[in-house]
Amino acid sequence: MPIKPVSIWATSQAHEDEMNDDHAMLWRRMIALMAEQDLTGRTVLDFGCNQGGFLRLLHGLRPYQRAVGVDIATESVALAVARRGLVPADYRVATDLAEFPETFDIAFSHEVLYLLEDIGAHAREIHAALKPGGVYYAAIGCHADGPEWPRWRDLIQTYSSLPVHGRSLDSYAEAFRTAGFQVFARRFAVDEFIRIGASDAFATVGEQLDYYTSVKTLFRLIKAR
Ligand SMILES: C[S@@+](CC[C@H](N)C(=O)[O-])C[C@H]1O[C@@H](n2cnc3c(N)ncnc32)[C@H](O)[C@@H]1O
Repeated sequence: MPIKPVSIWATSQAHEDEMNDDHAMLWRRMIALMAEQDLTGRTVLDFGCNQGGFLRLLHGLRPYQRAVGVDIATESVALAVARRGLVPADYRVATDLAEFPETFDIAFSHEVLYLLEDIGAHAREIHAALKPGGVYYAAIGCHADGPEWPRWRDLIQTYSSLPVHGRSLDSYAEAFRTAGFQVFARRFAVDEFIRIGASDAFATVGEQLDYYTSVKTLFRLIKAR
């Protein structure tokens, strides 16, 4: 069943602006962890692109030929378009990828999986949108294996316009394997100083450090050639 767009994912624009600022460090880490160093000539997807910041950063660090960012939120996509500058990225309001069969060399999503109702359908549609041999990097800290998750699930639901789904890392791995991916994963292991106390999401300094080093996880999902 098609999913209806929303105007914005979080309850306020200020919240989304703050999320963008916070996520820049995490996007840099995701890019640093990629096996693919040279994206020249490559076509890239960002699923759940929000205001387009990741694709702008990626192009600055690893210039690609072309990118598409899709998101369910109309206002966020409008901001992504307004901020595009000279980056060769198209931004679309979309919740499925039917118009992109075997199109992308590399796909990304950063903290989007827990907002998707049907993870099996998502795994299948990313698989279909990748070229043979294509790779999907999916970063997920909002999963049910983290000690902070029971608190976070309730907290995130207070500002998310979409239902929040708590799933284990095992269930994500299983969904992607079933869709035909070879599944690899690693800890996110952020390797820089983390600003302490900027968010009330963490109960202690230790919890915050453990989240960014050990709880947050990066899947690397490969479609066979
Ligand atoms: C937590 S935000 C993360 C945004 C961005 N990836 C980042 O790292 O800052 C989740 C994003 O996923 C988008 N999203 C949620 N469900 C979606 C769906 N079914 N299709 C496309 N985008 C979706 C939301 O609108 C929101 O922009």
